Amino acid sequence: MPHTPHRTALLLAALASLSACSSPSSPRLPQPPPVKATASLPLPSPTHSTPTDLPGLHNLVAFHQGLISGSQPEGHPAFDSLASLGIKTIISVDGAQPDVQLAAQRGIRYIHLPISYSGIDPDRQLQLARATRDALRQGPVYIHCHHGKHRSAAAAAAVTTILGLASSDQALARMKVSGTAPNYTGLFACVRDASPLSQTAIDAVPADFPSISKPSDIVQAMVDIDLAFEHLKDIEAAGWKTPPQNPDLVPASEAGRLADLYRHLLEPHNASRHPADMTPLLQDAHRHASILESLFAANQPDPGTLSAQLKLIAASCKDCHAKYRD
Ligand code: HEC
Repeated sequence: MPHTPHRTALLLAALASLSACSSPSSPRLPQPPPVKATASLPLPSPTHSTPTDLPGLHNLVAFHQGLISGSQPEGHPAFDSLASLGIKTIISVDGAQPDVQLAAQRGIRYIHLPISYSGIDPDRQLQLARATRDALRQGPVYIHCHHGKHRSAAAAAAVTTILGLASSDQALARMKVSGTAPNYTGLFACVRDASPLSQTAIDAVPADFPSISKPSDIVQAMVDIDLAFEHLKDIEAAGWKTPPQNPDLVPASEAGRLADLYRHLLEPHNASRHPADMTPLLQDAHRHASILESLFAANQPDPGTLSAQLKLIAASCKDCHAKYRD
């Protein structure tokens, strides 16, 4: 139908009358999202003793009715799954930048409050408690990290305890269902030590939560390092060639990117931000990545040699994490 000036005027009048009839006592809800607005999947329940998987989402575990911990949403299928569960708010405790747009397309709000593997500092616990309490009033909440096993489970457990929705023993039992690894002792400690806070104390926490927070350099670098490493594993699986499912990947460039990321962390302004004795481990990791990059320069690189080098890279991730992260 042609869009005549008359129609436009009618439309504007209709819009004006709509906004005029809203009042503070009946706040207008956000516009329904264009895709899959209705909750059509049952939410995981806090009584389930095993995690649930859905398209694009893994390791879903309920810590309370409507509070679900799980993995990072991967692409449209994941956000469709979240919309089908009726999720209204996503809280990311991961370092990676949230896909705010895919969430917004489905009328879902993102809140980004990253935590580390070593524990959740008290300020962050309070913020997570306030964000979750307020968000639960809007509908079900999905809290995620990368794998949905360690950090998101600990955050959900701490929050349910602080909000008085579960005892810390009950919350720790839910972490077992998520599969939180026992070597993350700091994560367990902050759940064991958590206790219920009054509504007034939680009300005192400022509620202006960002949908994207700028992570510290090492966390951001690790997210990128992890991606480059995943790409290299895909390249190895494809016989050390560009994988058919990811035709943009150039093997030598991925190795070069990994080396660059380590070099970036070794630059003086970044090096001063992590423990001094971590530097030799970063240098080792950088060397292993640079060797892989130079192996690709050979005319016919030997797959066995490349795989052996990738093993050394994997070992350098493990060594450093064992000492400085886990
Ligand atoms: C020299 C030390 C070091 C090396 C080498 C290293 N890491 Fe890390 N990594 C860390 C530290 C420290 C953290 C925790 C940062 C924090 O939470 O403050 C971390 C965190 C991470 C994270 C979590 C990021 C997030 O979202 O919070 C991932 C994923 C990761 N590393 C992957 C890798 C991979 C894959 C490799 C090897 C290819 C690797 N790392 C090599 C020190 C290292």
